[in-house]
Amino acid sequence: MEIQTQLKQALQEIQEALLGVSTPNELADLKAKYLGKKGIVAEWMTAMKNLPNEEKPRFGQAVNEAKNQINDLLEAFRTQIEDRMVSDKLAKEALDVSLPGRVFPIGAKHLMNQVVEEVEDLFVGMGYTVKEGPEIEQDLYNFEMLNLPKSHPARDMQDTFYITEELLLRTHTSPVQIRTLLENGGKKPIKIICPGKVYRRDEDDMTHSHQFMQVEALVVDENVTLADLKGTLLMLARKMFGEDRQIRLRPSYFPFTEPSVEVDVSCYKCNGKGCPMCKNTGWIEILGAGMINNAVLDATGYDKTKYQGFALGVGVERLAILKYGIDDIRAFYTNDLRFNRQFK
Ligand code: PHE
Repeated sequence: MEIQTQLKQALQEIQEALLGVSTPNELADLKAKYLGKKGIVAEWMTAMKNLPNEEKPRFGQAVNEAKNQINDLLEAFRTQIEDRMVSDKLAKEALDVSLPGRVFPIGAKHLMNQVVEEVEDLFVGMGYTVKEGPEIEQDLYNFEMLNLPKSHPARDMQDTFYITEELLLRTHTSPVQIRTLLENGGKKPIKIICPGKVYRRDEDDMTHSHQFMQVEALVVDENVTLADLKGTLLMLARKMFGEDRQIRLRPSYFPFTEPSVEVDVSCYKCNGKGCPMCKNTGWIEILGAGMINNAVLDATGYDKTKYQGFALGVGVERLAILKYGIDDIRAFYTNDLRFNRQFK
């Protein structure tokens, strides 16, 4: 067969074969078949050797042209395949930006933490540091060194869960007073608050919970007086219940403070006129406080002739209940999201 015809035929074959090619691998096979070492073009080159010399140049030129054409054809097709693969991939991975996004639920602070942080903010602003103490506490710190010896009747109001005779779940944050006094070795002034969980052996009902929270404040320094305590209490009452509030102190009893006071805030509902909220008294009790008892200073190595101090302990739930009009203390602990979400 005339070489020109053969070449034309080969080109046509390739064009037909290309119709069935869709991947780079298939294309590579086709290329090998024509342009490879043992391919058809190579065969033509071998055939050329047997031609008479005068025909060789024309034949060689034709083969070369055909080779270039085949190559061009395959290369053009390769670009096509690659383009198609890229656009297929893009189509497959396309992001539909009009789809609605996934909604991630955003958490919020529990009301307890919000109230604790509010109290912390106030005290930190007045130069206090925030301390923590263990919830499993020694009888020694929870009672004994707070001037509540083993037989003391005031222990009855604070029955708790005992781990051993000497280890218990703390009934108040006051043992942190003892820990801090001991740490400071009878020398340095102290200005701390301590928020934390406390426990008592109470039956749970609307107003009692076997676990609740307190914030304790302790100040020890030279020249600390009841007036300092009163000013601090007024700040706290106004921070929590509004700038118009007044406070009043009633005599009370805690073994670790002397004198001790019960603190009332003027009713924020009726502004002291008398309403169901304050049981018509105009006042609402919010916390206990007092000047550090000398017995406590003695027990912790502070010189009572040089140092005085005050302490206060406030129930966090009580603050929240009053401030947000909550009617059941158990709502803080049952984790009903409908309750929690109200305070987002
Ligand atoms: N710890 C006392 C209580 O839980 C409160 C209190 C703290 C009273 C500090 C006086 C001083 O009842």
